[in-house]
Amino acid sequence: MLIKKPSDIRPSEITSEHNYLNRREFMRAGAVVGGSLLGSSAFSAIVPEARGAKLANVEPGAFSTDETPNSYEDITTYNNYYEFGTGKADPFKNAQDFEPRPWSITVEGECEKTGIFDFEDFVKPFDLEERIYRMRCVEAWSMVIPWVGISLAEVVKYLQPTSKARYVAFETLNDASRMPGIRRRTLDWPYREGLTIEEATNPLSILAVGLYGEVLPNQNGAPIRLVVPWKYGFKGIKGIVRMRFTERRPKTSWNMSQPREYGFYANVNPEVDHPRWSQARERRIGSGIFASKQPTLMFNGYGEKVAHLYKGLDLRRNY
Ligand code: MTE
Repeated sequence: MLIKKPSDIRPSEITSEHNYLNRREFMRAGAVVGGSLLGSSAFSAIVPEARGAKLANVEPGAFSTDETPNSYEDITTYNNYYEFGTGKADPFKNAQDFEPRPWSITVEGECEKTGIFDFEDFVKPFDLEERIYRMRCVEAWSMVIPWVGISLAEVVKYLQPTSKARYVAFETLNDASRMPGIRRRTLDWPYREGLTIEEATNPLSILAVGLYGEVLPNQNGAPIRLVVPWKYGFKGIKGIVRMRFTERRPKTSWNMSQPREYGFYANVNPEVDHPRWSQARERRIGSGIFASKQPTLMFNGYGEKVAHLYKGLDLRRNY
């Protein structure tokens, strides 16, 4: 984690508030003089290629929970990434040889800045922030994850959606030669997800490029994946290669596959059961097999920030 214990901090690392502010001013001035595209950012995001490399200049972001994060091991060995297999340990086992660079992201549809961006150029205009979020999977387990990412609202603003843009659609890499799970038709590839523009520009939404202060591991969606903490985990599409601004609601993988079980919204809602199990409680990974399940919170506890997005919407029908 980025938070260092006082005993770990060398005196040379301590920056007085005065120097810190000067440094930010200096970097801002540099951004203007250099004619860079940096908006209000003081730092531009640099994500090294090397696996496990530390990310520099990560600022503590807003909205982090003070719950204890899960261990690095829990977060990186138990998850879903069907492109690498359907078992919970498959992404960890089968994504080790995956090379997430070079990588590009295609931006298309209803926005001014369409094009194919190198990953490095795509993230550069934005600040890296740490956001420690509670995450709730639709399979009734949860974790607390210290993500590092860039604000999706900033990205959307930067890409300048037209007045017709009502949704943002995302797609994952679809390459059977690099992703063994794609050789089986467990889903209609590529993996697809989507948000309304209001959801994408909510300050909680991020595109994650790291966790625990380090470059994002392959199994968690390297080099870039979506994180929307008030929704079930399947909305958090990994290995993003395409973003499309659309007027009409985009198709999403789990809704296409099992429409009765998975809707477009996928907001965490303890009052609406999955057709095959209850969503009222959740098992926190790492809490031990004898630990009791804890109650699931509406919008995963982020209601104050997001409930207004769904005013007047029947959340039982729009699940
Ligand atoms: N993204 C892609 N491309 N393919 C997937 O199979 N699984 C989703 C989501 N993103 C998935 C995906 C599901 S069901 C969950 S619960 C989360 O990833 C789990 O991964 P995480 O623990 O790294 O967030």
